[in-house]
Amino acid sequence: MTGPRLTVRDDLTSVEAYVSPQQPARYRMNTNESPYAPPPELVSEVAREIEDIAFNRYPDRDATDLYEAMSEHLEWPREGLWIANGSNEVFMHLFLGFGGPGRSVMLFEPTYPLHSLIPTIASTTVMGLPRAGDFTIDLDAAVDAIRRERPEIVVVCSPNNPTGGCEPLGTVRALLAEAPGLVVVDEAYIEFARPEESVRGLLDEHDNLVLVKTFSKAWRLAGVRIGYMLAHPALVSELARVRLPYHLSAPTQVVGRAALRHAARTLELVRDIAEERDRIALALQAMGILTYPSSANFVLFEVDDPPLVWRDLLERGVLVRSYPGHPRLARCLRVTAGRREESDAFLAAMREVACD
Ligand SMILES: Cc1ncc(COP(=O)(O)O)c(C=O)c1O
Repeated sequence: MTGPRLTVRDDLTSVEAYVSPQQPARYRMNTNESPYAPPPELVSEVAREIEDIAFNRYPDRDATDLYEAMSEHLEWPREGLWIANGSNEVFMHLFLGFGGPGRSVMLFEPTYPLHSLIPTIASTTVMGLPRAGDFTIDLDAAVDAIRRERPEIVVVCSPNNPTGGCEPLGTVRALLAEAPGLVVVDEAYIEFARPEESVRGLLDEHDNLVLVKTFSKAWRLAGVRIGYMLAHPALVSELARVRLPYHLSAPTQVVGRAALRHAARTLELVRDIAEERDRIALALQAMGILTYPSSANFVLFEVDDPPLVWRDLLERGVLVRSYPGHPRLARCLRVTAGRREESDAFLAAMREVACD
């Protein structure tokens, strides 16, 4: 067999496929999922409805019922709402529609790696600005860079993954005032934060604000792939140009509607998880370990030898996230908060591996 006749696009040769290491472990505390399955009544309703799907037919292309239910739940007009297969696909649609060759995005490192990978795939120039020492956005530096570089899109992750902190609303307001184009705020973890930390209240006053959210974290539905965005209807209507037809499968629409019907039950463990997060942080601090303030469902902390601690934790059945080769996170590990017994196992293992 000869080699392929076509090589990949030049601008993709340096791109590495995204891998989030999936290792078998008793306590999987590395990907910020919920350890809790969705409520049983949601699952059984979905099972019943799935039986009635006409699988030989394409799904409702406009996911009309799902949009209506989501719009009602969010108290936000349907025309200003966009739903996709996870918030990653929302970002893909955004960059296909508003990024592209000759356009650029500014973001603040370290942050969620897909915020640079997705625009790169969509041929958008990525400008990563370093965060301040405490991992907040250095607003003066950001404003200078925006004035100099005029990026079409600025991405803010709040709470930021992997550092955990929310951006002050004053920072987001200042970015909205300076940005020549869109400011996209990824609030994948906002349910674990205090309500006043959300930028949701800014949407009415700012037609260049895009708010992206997901069902993958607090909603306990990472396996279904539902994400959504709220923005000005004029922005949302442009995205129809880049989505593929029938992109929301019939089962996805069924699960999304069921989740909205059972929203209160589905979200009822959010406060417990936030309490576990705080308990983990306090216990680590009591061991003399530096932790970064978190409004999400995880805690970033520092150890002297992360690869060794990571391996020793795994030997004790606890899988956390490490950042090999990342200059700003060289001493860091990140642990996802979930069930009480998971925190206990993690903390017991930490006492053994990091405190002797
Ligand atoms: C900040 C942030 N945004 C988005 C996502 C992905 O969300 P989804 O599963 O909706 O694609 C993640 C997943 O870890 C994340 O950390």
